[in-house]
Amino acid sequence: MLDFTYNVPTKVAFGHDAEARVGELLAEQGATKVLVHFGGGSVVRSGLLDRVLGYLDEAGIGHVELGGVQPNPRISKVYEGIELAQKEGVDFLLAVGGGSVIDSTKAIAYGLAEPEHDVWELYEHVRTAKACFPLGSVLTISAAGSETSNSSVITNDETLEKRAYDDDLARPRIAIMNPELTMTLPDYQTACGCTDIMMHTMERYFTSVAPTMELTDGIAEALLRVVRDCALILREEPDNYEARADVMWAGSLAHNGLTGCGTDGGDWSAHMLEHEVGGMFDVAHGAGLAAIWPHWARYVMADCMDRFVKFAVNVWDVDPEGKTDEEIALEGVAAVEEFYHSIGMPTNFAELGIEPTDEQLEKLAHDCAIACGGTQGSAKVLGEPEMLDVYKMAAGRA
Ligand code: NZQ
Ligand code: ZN
Repeated sequence: MLDFTYNVPTKVAFGHDAEARVGELLAEQGATKVLVHFGGGSVVRSGLLDRVLGYLDEAGIGHVELGGVQPNPRISKVYEGIELAQKEGVDFLLAVGGGSVIDSTKAIAYGLAEPEHDVWELYEHVRTAKACFPLGSVLTISAAGSETSNSSVITNDETLEKRAYDDDLARPRIAIMNPELTMTLPDYQTACGCTDIMMHTMERYFTSVAPTMELTDGIAEALLRVVRDCALILREEPDNYEARADVMWAGSLAHNGLTGCGTDGGDWSAHMLEHEVGGMFDVAHGAGLAAIWPHWARYVMADCMDRFVKFAVNVWDVDPEGKTDEEIALEGVAAVEEFYHSIGMPTNFAELGIEPTDEQLEKLAHDCAIACGGTQGSAKVLGEPEMLDVYKMAAGRA
């Protein structure tokens, strides 16, 4: 097992009516005036926003609201949030929504803590943050894991660059997680979320540095099996509380670092490749991952065969009897594709609904290489030409 730091300082309030504790939890944090940040309207329609504001009123905590965060959140909204929060003198930020809203909140938090700098510089990786404002969330979709992660992903409106910045400073102070709040999600978003959750653990699982890490592997494999099974249950029973609860908790554990303890941190090529596609075509992150992963998997498999075999057998119940390692690994990838189809996810760009031109594929690969600092990966290190190969496979042109 490699040495590691596990830093998850987020206080989680999980379960039925958890949002009713928002006043108490924010008071504990010393909040007196809160910026309540939300998305395109789902929390207005469901009544959640009004309930949260009511709980804050009851606790005597002041608030100001800023909605309109769109999926693949934009830096322009972040600037708006920084300005509003400064003007209103808030001392805590509360995201009510999903990964996009939480990421926008994290970016506002960086901007408030160091107002003398342009926050986009963090996402361009030209400087690192020295401070971050305190934040928390009431989670409404199980997916990105941003409620406990150290990551945030923001898109530049002008250049359409979608860029991540990871820093423990932005780990939220609190996460309020009521699985019932996810029952209003469209099936497509539930499936995108389950795909993303599984992918956060798969990114960590496929590593060329595979020392003894039986516990981490066991946690990862269990998480993958549970989320897969729950995703299938939720297709039939979207109101199944137990399945919603397992998926919600898995979403946090999949991306707070737990399923990567003792490894080299993982591969993350599929994510980096997807972020470019999300920036250029504004697709849902989970669906973009599903469209890329099988192609990435087949492309890198030979360099990481032991892990692919283990994944196929332990997660996807592939019978290894009488088969070569390659056959077992390929059966595992095929099982993932079958699973994606069964929950309405795409397995290539055409099914994702995009048709990038050759020029666009080249731009995706070029920009991805820049975003990665030249190369990316652990299962296999990819440079720009290899990134282009994977994009071409996903586009059915290789
Ligand atoms: O905007 P509203 O109206 O709220 O609608 C949202 C949005 O359209 C809707 N929704 C959310 N909760 C709902 C609901 N609709 C009905 N009922 C509810 N309870 O779902 C749509 C998607 O929301 P979004 O927040 O975009 O989803 P997700 O949590 O998947 O976040 C995706 C973003 O997170 C980034 C992705 O790249 C993407 O930009 N990621 C962030 C990570 C992190 N910070 O650690 C890691 C991930 O790998 C990922 O890159
Ligand atoms: Zn993700």
